[in-house]
Amino acid sequence: MNDPAAFVRDTLARLPKEIAGTAIVAASGGIDSTTAALLVERAVGDRARAIFVDTGLLRAGEVEKVSEFFRASGLRFEVATASDRFFAALKGTTDPEEKRRRIGREFIRLFEEEARKFGTDLLVQGTIAPDWIESGGALRDTIKTHHNVGGVPKDSRLRLVEPLRDLYKDEVRAVARELRIPEPDRQPFPGPGLAVRVAGEVTPERVRRARVANAIVEREVERAFGAGEIPRPWQYFAALLDTPTVGVLGDNRVRGDAVSVRVVESIDAMTATAMALPKPLVARIAEAITRELSGQVVRVLYDVTDKPPGTIEWE
Ligand code: XMP
Repeated sequence: MNDPAAFVRDTLARLPKEIAGTAIVAASGGIDSTTAALLVERAVGDRARAIFVDTGLLRAGEVEKVSEFFRASGLRFEVATASDRFFAALKGTTDPEEKRRRIGREFIRLFEEEARKFGTDLLVQGTIAPDWIESGGALRDTIKTHHNVGGVPKDSRLRLVEPLRDLYKDEVRAVARELRIPEPDRQPFPGPGLAVRVAGEVTPERVRRARVANAIVEREVERAFGAGEIPRPWQYFAALLDTPTVGVLGDNRVRGDAVSVRVVESIDAMTATAMALPKPLVARIAEAITRELSGQVVRVLYDVTDKPPGTIEWE
């Protein structure tokens, strides 16, 4: 794809044939699903309805920000509040792939219910090429089970419409720019949300800690690239680890959590390079995390691993 305008034209010509009646759109607020949603809105108007799922695994302020954008976009839009269901589904598991499967299952159940209410069996997703390549297409090993690919059960009555499935991220961003979507370069955020940034069991309290740490990393890194101190990274976030560690609080030694901070550069997420941040920036992040989560997080580590051999996310 090297001509975004032609891609938009062709897609707008094709979508009304694929969506003869109505459809729901899985809108996560990320650039992929937002681009897919706006293409569908342009192609079939109010025959499509976007559903944004509040999984309880989202970042600070995300529900408000995404709702504001979609309410202004002209697309029919609703928020499905479902954090209780997702936490119940995740209870008792620590395995990263199992977490993705359970989250994927919950998403699909929820979209099946929403589709039934809207009288459709069509689900539009913002799946892009690396999603299904890494989920193990024909002859490929599974690198990870993407929630929006591996999670669709064979017996689901939903039929998928995936207008971006042959595109890579930089191509999606070019299409988003063509559609005048704000912040086309926003960092990706995985569908399973903070669940893949909480090692071990995913509980509301552990997600809260990860959310606070993520907000600090975003705030400090965005301030730094806004001020021209570093280039804009591909992704920047924190993961809450499941190895308790010892710290000092006042005169006492306390046991608390450790957080890993990761900032990477990449072109398409297939490979990535850990960014060497200026030391004062790393120190500011560590200080803010241990202060805002005082007595809860007592150690901050900086991840220096490239992909490969590491993945971008913690798990
Ligand atoms: P990894 O960690 O596999 O991540 O190197 C590559 C890119 O994909 C994102 N990611 C996901 N996105 N569902 C998603 O929608 C997932 O299960 C998932 N896992 C990772 C990750 O944030 C990075 O941009």
